Amino acid sequence: MTRPIQHLVVGMTGGIAAYKTAELVRLLVKQGIRVDVVMTSAATRFITPLTMQALSGRPVYTDLWDERIANGMPHIELSRQADAILVAPASADFMAKLVHGAADDLLSTLCLARDCPLIVAPAMNRQMWEHPATQRNVAQLQKDGVRLIGPDSGEQACGETGLGRMLEPQSIVDALQVTCPSNLLAGKRILITAGPTIEAIDPVRGITNFSSGKMGYAIAQTAIEMGADVTLISGPTALAAPHCTTIQVTSAQQMHDAVMAEVIGQDVFIAVAAVADYRPREVQSQKIKKHADTLQLDLVRNPDILAAVTSLPRPPFCVGFAAESGHLLDHAHKKRLQKNVPLLAANLVSEAMGGDDSRIVLIDDQGEHPLPPGSKTMLAHMLLQHMAGMLPPSTTSDASTPE
Ligand code: CTP
Repeated sequence: MTRPIQHLVVGMTGGIAAYKTAELVRLLVKQGIRVDVVMTSAATRFITPLTMQALSGRPVYTDLWDERIANGMPHIELSRQADAILVAPASADFMAKLVHGAADDLLSTLCLARDCPLIVAPAMNRQMWEHPATQRNVAQLQKDGVRLIGPDSGEQACGETGLGRMLEPQSIVDALQVTCPSNLLAGKRILITAGPTIEAIDPVRGITNFSSGKMGYAIAQTAIEMGADVTLISGPTALAAPHCTTIQVTSAQQMHDAVMAEVIGQDVFIAVAAVADYRPREVQSQKIKKHADTLQLDLVRNPDILAAVTSLPRPPFCVGFAAESGHLLDHAHKKRLQKNVPLLAANLVSEAMGGDDSRIVLIDDQGEHPLPPGSKTMLAHMLLQHMAGMLPPSTTSDASTPE
């Protein structure tokens, strides 16, 4: 997409999240976007076409043989003028149909006959999302250039908790608002760290932090969508790995070693991980028993991964994060200079850690650039767009590992 969306076809498939699409359509229309709603027959079991017609202010289409379209070809005509088709909710079944190019109803035929971008917001039960068949379909859709937004994790209609819930309407609106030329990072190799680290104390305990990994994963996913060749090095998280090379680690030392092994030939390094600064001097081989009233741990410093990368002879373009609990900008400016990074994203832990939304201020040589508060996906787009504008035309480094 190279311009803000003005005309959207919103496709709805069968899922309880259809109720959220009612609110989504209301928000889109409020922004002046023309919305044509197309529903599968399963979608009409969850919410009526009449509701969607009232909210969109336009006729709703459910039938491949609809005669209201003048040339009798709604499967082509409806998306001809559209800037994008958004399928929300996108069921597991509909995603499987997209993968195979099935076209047995109006919505699937429209998706096949389109020449505009296709965006899908999956919504399904946790186990359906995690099933290898769905994950294979997700990978294929991404390869086919389909943009996935979400799913989110949390409580589900079936009573389970996990990944699969459709994103909230406002987060979808935020993600759509971002105009991103899909090839903005084409040809770039990007190494990203994400999540917390765990520093073992004994066989059953460790020191960690509250990082969820959501920001780093959102950046990895968005960079993939922008055409980058992404390698993600992740501490332990509850998130599904994006479809790129992903290396799972536990401790800061392991993350450091993985980064140093992968950094050669990378164009960009984005350090999003919340790395533990200290680890126990010794890991006890046996579980520590409670005898005394107090227990002291002797901690030693962990390597600073970002600083290690920026001090390479020819480092890639480096982006750092600063998570602060107060005096955000003061600390962030100092951190950018200390770590010697051209671009730093500063956020308050109270506004960032664990949640789906965040608030970020970008800091570079030009000064401070506050981004609007919003979903981590939206912020990932904005950060990467800003970063892409700072990359020299060819940034391929020949970074070498330190002795
Ligand atoms: N970072 C890193 N390795 C570490 C510590 C931090 O790569 N051992 C990176 C983080 O991924 C982030 C940046 O450095 O990009 C700043 O991390 P932050 O935790 O905010 O700051 P610290 O450098 O740890 O400093 P302090 O804890 O004193 O705020």
